[in-house]
Amino acid sequence: MIKIFSNKDELALFFCDELVKLVTQKKEIFLCLSGGSTPEIIYKNLSADYVDKIDWRKVHLFWGDERCVPSVDEQSNYGMTKKYLLNFIDIPGKNVHPIDGENDPEKESSRYSEEIKKIVPSKNQHPVFNLVMLGLGEDGHTASIFPDQMWLLNSKNICEVAVYPSNRQKRITLSGTAINNAEMIIFLVTGKNKSTIVKKVLEKKQKIFPAEFVQPINGELEFYLDSDAASLLEENNHTKN
Ligand code: 6PG
Repeated sequence: MIKIFSNKDELALFFCDELVKLVTQKKEIFLCLSGGSTPEIIYKNLSADYVDKIDWRKVHLFWGDERCVPSVDEQSNYGMTKKYLLNFIDIPGKNVHPIDGENDPEKESSRYSEEIKKIVPSKNQHPVFNLVMLGLGEDGHTASIFPDQMWLLNSKNICEVAVYPSNRQKRITLSGTAINNAEMIIFLVTGKNKSTIVKKVLEKKQKIFPAEFVQPINGELEFYLDSDAASLLEENNHTKN
């Protein structure tokens, strides 16, 4: 399902309302956050208008990937979430499960896999996140699964160590197998600079972009796009929100 919004503010508000519904429906939810800059507008909206609309005691927060940097580093996905969301909501500390970007990447990948195994309900030996948020890079990567590391898609491990191609930065990422075991996956993509890759990924013709292989085995897949990111899509294959 592809949903298109006039702008990223509308997209963010819609997402926040959907999150309220999801949390209300469930006794407990296991949410996997995406990294990068796109989630910032969502966190800002949640902090501004949803602090009391969500029972954060029911929410467990995980990250789909992390840059191997200290949490105070401006590149830290956890750091960004703390700055725009965690500092404003009353969520129990035990419900927040960051990836330790300062730990040895291999050790941290195993440690985080064990933490997920301990806390997130599982099926097929893999975690079943209720919702996995994903971003999309202009090269077709998602989480930290990059086009030159396609093996990460089928890894049997929950987490793996990846390498950001342009600067060799180490990353910890969920594997494609763990991502595709989710109940719901939502790609959040905004900006004109993403319009070409959005079209290619949705066409699923080239089979060279990791995001093409995101398909929940037992769940739903949605794309939330702003009109800029959707600007190259034909009229007939989406709903305007
Ligand atoms: C990361 C991400 C990555 C991100 C895309 C899109 O840690 O970088 O998880 O997959 O979602 O690169 O990034 P933007 O939202 O900044 O465009």
